[in-house]
This record gives sequence, structure tokens and C-alpha cells, in this order.
Amino acid sequence: MEKFIFIAFLDVMLASLLMFQSVICSSNFTDQVALLHFKSAIKIDPTNTIKGGNWTAEANFCEWIGVVCSNRKQRVTALDLSHMGLHGRLSPYLGNLSFLASLDLRNNSFYGTILIEISHLRRLKKLVLEDNQFAGNIPPNLAWCQNLEVMSLMMNRLMGSIPREFGTFPKLQKLYLGSNDLRGQIPSFLGNRSTLQVITLFNASLTSSIPLALFNRLLTSVILMDNYLSGSLPSDLCYRWHDI
Ligand SMILES: *[C@@H]1O[C@H](CO)[C@@H](O)[C@H](O)[C@H]1NC(C)=O
Ligand SMILES: *[C@@H]1O[C@H](CO)[C@@H](O)[C@H](O)[C@H]1NC(C)=O
Ligand SMILES: *[C@@H]1O[C@H](CO)[C@@H](O)[C@H](O)[C@H]1NC(C)=O
Ligand SMILES: *[C@@H]1O[C@H](CO)[C@@H](O)[C@H](O)[C@H]1NC(C)=O
Ligand SMILES: *[C@@H]1O[C@H](CO)[C@@H](O)[C@H](O)[C@H]1NC(C)=O
Ligand SMILES: *[C@@H]1O[C@H](CO)[C@@H](O)[C@H](O)[C@H]1NC(C)=O
Repeated sequence: MEKFIFIAFLDVMLASLLMFQSVICSSNFTDQVALLHFKSAIKIDPTNTIKGGNWTAEANFCEWIGVVCSNRKQRVTALDLSHMGLHGRLSPYLGNLSFLASLDLRNNSFYGTILIEISHLRRLKKLVLEDNQFAGNIPPNLAWCQNLEVMSLMMNRLMGSIPREFGTFPKLQKLYLGSNDLRGQIPSFLGNRSTLQVITLFNASLTSSIPLALFNRLLTSVILMDNYLSGSLPSDLCYRWHDI
């Protein structure tokens, strides 16, 4: 009996030691689980960087290629997997990376819809999904990411209209939506956003007259080529290209 109690006591000691250690490392298991789900949703990885690299539970996920963590809390703050030729859908677990500030998946072959779970990422400042094969509508809920400063969804297969909700980003500076199959009007509220510096809507099948509000002087670059637009442009408008 005494022996049994002693063993039980040891077990409790061991369990609390392990818990203590995980608090010290304070790496959030939720982030690791989310990244592993993200990995398993990738169907093709031509360079085998994710599927065959160190994206395994054996290595600390903060050191996985493309992953950046905050120093103190060991939470994922940036995920950059651009230019890797990845094919697959996004995993809804992506929405659990609650400290993510930058998501850059440009120039891959991600398909499916832009998941609504991305709108759970309230700390997101930069969302770059350009040059993929995302289809469907732009989720209006992306407007919940109130810290967004840069959003590029250009060069995909997105349809529908620019959500009305996009008028509510308090910090948005650059918005790239060109080369999609967007329809409808260019919403005039976009011109009301005093933080907005760049907006590109080229080749997006938008059909409407150009809202004059778009050309307030705070907007340094408006690129609207190749739309079925009517109306006239301000004569002093210059077209400039900005890098993200
Ligand atoms: C994972 O791979 C990258 C690139 O090869 C390397 O920089 C990083 O140190 C590796 N991490 C671990 C934990 O081995
Ligand atoms: C896109 O990524 C591929 C590698 O997957 C690379 O060869 C190509 O140069 C990249 N294209 C651009 C425009 O960056
Ligand atoms: C993470 O996200 C998925 C899918 O969105 C969900 O099912 C899961 O319960 C979430 N939470 C954790 C802690 O992984
Ligand atoms: C880990 O992240 C999840 C989801 O963001 C959160 O609910 C949980 O409290 C976090 N745990 C720790 C130990 O930080
Ligand atoms: C315009 O967008 C369509 C898809 O909507 C795409 O196939 C085409 O290559 C784009 N053209 C240019 C010049 O970007
Ligand atoms: C733009 O802002 C002005 C004043 O802040 C407001 O009266 C107007 O309704 C807004 N226009 C749009 C299209 O949101």
C-alpha cells in the first residue's frame, strides 16, 4: 500500500515537472498542431522542403523553415512559404495561429477558397496570397483583421465583388486585388480610407464608373488598368508601381 502511494506520488511529481517544463519552454502546442495540419493539407511539395524537411514534431517548430516565432512567448508570428511551388488547400487550423502577424504564401499553387478562419487572425498585419489559384468570393469577414496594413490577393481566380466590409479597415495601407475575376463596382468607400496609399485593381472585370473619392491626394498609387470602366480619370494621375 505504502509502495503504491509512493509510486502515485512519483507520478504526480513527474507530471508536474513535465508541466513545469512545458511552461518554461512556453511554446504553444496549439501552434505546432496548427502547423502540422497546414503541412498535411499540402499535397505537392516539389522541393520537399516542408514534407521532407524539418517540419516534424522532433524539431522545435520555431526553427522550422519559413516559421518565425516571438522570442519570449515562442508563438508563431510569421509564416513565409513564398515561391515554393506548393499545391494544396489551406488548413482551417491556420486560424489557430493567433499571434500570426504576417502570412506570405505568394507564388504557389494553393487552391480552394480563402478560408474564413483567416479572419480569426486578429494580429495579422500582412496577408499575401497573391499568385495562387484561390477561387470563390473574397470573404467579407477578412475585415475582422483590423490590424491589416497590407493585403494582396491579386493573381488568383477570385470572383464576386469587393466586400462592402472592406471600408472598415482602420490601418490598411496597400490593397492589391488585380488579376482576378471580380465583378461589380469599385466601392467608393475605398477612397475614404485615409490610411490607404496603394490600391491595384487591374484586370479585374470591374464594371462601373470610377469613384472620384478614389483619387483623394492621400492615395499615392491607383492602378486600374484593363477594367471595363467608364468615366474620366483626373488628368494629373500618374500610374506607379509599388513593391509590397
Ligand atoms: C530546419 O531547416 C532550416 C533550413 O534548412 C534550418 O535553417 C533550420 O536550422 C532547421 N531547423 C532545425 C531545428 O533543424
Ligand atoms: C515562382 O516560384 C518558382 C519556384 O516555385 C520560381 O521558379 C519562379 O521564379 C517564381 N516566380 C516569381 C514571379 O517569383
Ligand atoms: C484549431 O482549429 C481547428 C479547425 O478550425 C479546430 O477544430 C480546433 O479545435 C482548433 N483548436 C485547437 C486547440 O487546435
Ligand atoms: C495556446 O494558444 C491557444 C489558442 O490561441 C490558447 O487558447 C491557449 O491559451 C494558448 N496556451 C498557452 C499555454 O499559451
Ligand atoms: C487577367 O486575369 C485573368 C484571370 O481573370 C488571367 O487569366 C489573365 O492572365 C490576366 N491577364 C493579365 C495581363 O494579368
Ligand atoms: C466618406 O466620408 C465622409 C465623411 O467622413 C462621409 O460623409 C461619406 O459618407 C463617406 N463616403 C463613403 C462612400 O463611405
